[in-house]
Amino acid sequence: MSTSADPILVPTDYFRELTPQEIFADGERPLELDLGSGDGTFLVEMAALHPERNFLGVERLLGRVEKTAKRIRQRGLKNVRVLRLETTYTVAWLLPANLASRIHLLCPDPWPKKKHHGRRLLNDPEFLAGLHKVLRDGGEFLVKTDDHHYYEHVLEVMAGQARFQRLDWPEGAFPYPKTDFEVQWLALSKSVERARWRKLPPVV
Ligand SMILES: C[S@@+](CC[C@H](N)C(=O)[O-])C[C@H]1O[C@@H](n2cnc3c(N)ncnc32)[C@H](O)[C@@H]1O
Repeated sequence: MSTSADPILVPTDYFRELTPQEIFADGERPLELDLGSGDGTFLVEMAALHPERNFLGVERLLGRVEKTAKRIRQRGLKNVRVLRLETTYTVAWLLPANLASRIHLLCPDPWPKKKHHGRRLLNDPEFLAGLHKVLRDGGEFLVKTDDHHYYEHVLEVMAGQARFQRLDWPEGAFPYPKTDFEVQWLALSKSVERARWRKLPPVV
């Protein structure tokens, strides 16, 4: 296992759930997940803004993971790490239940062609089960996308999740740095839509 001081998290065992302390030594602090964290622009800015919280990025491309790690080292941040792994596997199998206070899914691949819709994260029951498991009660799931059809798809899927309640997200409601892809889309005059949900406690 890499130590908590190493920005890249390398589990010693990929076939059992990690404990919060294996992710960050001070694993009792609130933790936020950035799924498909790209080059780490958003992840690192969030970690700098919130030194009282921990942040874990999940990204499958090695070059982007290395770029993120470089940013983390340059900023001297100890509350942010990145894991090179596939998102669905990570939330469904590697991360423990009730770990995250917020889960960010920002500018994910929209897979616009109909024949590729099966690849969309929210079309995968395993991903949805992992999302439910890893997010704490009262925690939030936040999504941004430049693709309007994908946005509608996310709203439709989330409307079917009984334990998730949609929340307003007005511009500037809370500090939320722009992501690398978002900056690129905005420079091309594309609009970026956003939505967020709160996970409700179980009905007893
Ligand atoms: C369009 S980019 C957005 C990156 C970043 N969130 C941003 O907004 O700048 C999508 C990122 O998700 C990563 N990605 C896509 N599918 C993934 C998966 N199943 N598991 C892990 N990473 C994934 C890609 O490698 C890519 O870096």
